[in-house]
Amino acid sequence: MCKFLGKVRTAHPTELESPKPDRTNLPIWLHWLDSCPSTNTHAHTHAAQLHHGDVVFTRRQTAGRGQQGRTWYSPTGVLTASFVLDNLNPNLLSGLSLAVGLAVIYAIEDLAPDCHDMLRLKWPNDVLINRRKLAGILCEATSGNVLGKSRVVVGIGINRCADFDRTGEDARAIDNAVSLHSISNTVPDELSLLRRLRHYLLELADMFSRTDKPASKLGLALMLPELRRRDALVGCNVAIELSSETILGQATGIDKQGRLLLRLPDETVRPFTSGRVSY
Ligand code: BTN
Repeated sequence: MCKFLGKVRTAHPTELESPKPDRTNLPIWLHWLDSCPSTNTHAHTHAAQLHHGDVVFTRRQTAGRGQQGRTWYSPTGVLTASFVLDNLNPNLLSGLSLAVGLAVIYAIEDLAPDCHDMLRLKWPNDVLINRRKLAGILCEATSGNVLGKSRVVVGIGINRCADFDRTGEDARAIDNAVSLHSISNTVPDELSLLRRLRHYLLELADMFSRTDKPASKLGLALMLPELRRRDALVGCNVAIELSSETILGQATGIDKQGRLLLRLPDETVRPFTSGRVSY
């Protein structure tokens, strides 16, 4: 059953430690690299060799990319992977990264049951736990269609078992990051997490694909109640940084195009498609 349509979650076995999997026995969709600058960049530069549902993964990402051109810092223990989704509907893409946020939440909560219902989304694509950043998402549509398919590379970084105290990075520079191992007794191994993420992302790809389903069943439409429930910002006073100004307002929710709605001091509600939010 499709989780995004509100069906029951199933529990999955987890392991505390993640032994290095037998590399000769990896699933065919998994491209495991010893190291690379950025799994998203790799997925773009190797586009012709990758297919719908393929996953590029490395334990050593040396020049990770984040939102708005920022650097994504990936010390040991941060899971870094990119998922290839093809044949998506370009008109629905504005809502995709929020939906990916839900997929990340579901995958982590399935495998770390003691985090059940603790994860939240901070628009547009941060996954938080206890108001600290557990995961980040970078969705990039390929420029021009790859082999005639509208493709999106979904990059996901999850702070799985990273020691941010030892790395000595400034908490603000790493968005107040927190690692799953410091919150949960169960830390899923990488392969289980990749499988679970892929499972949900393939479900999403179906909902964001070019089909003749009615608009009420496509994109974010059916996910709005769950997005609202998981919205870390709703009701908060926030500041949104745009390229030329910063706007203050109260977050009132997310619309079906994935825009953040802010009530401004003059009581009008304005939708935002991008920007960096603090609260
Ligand atoms: C953000 O929070 O700013 C987005 C972070 C996205 C990081 C992931 S890690 C895997 C993939 N490869 C990249 O270079 N970036 C994404």
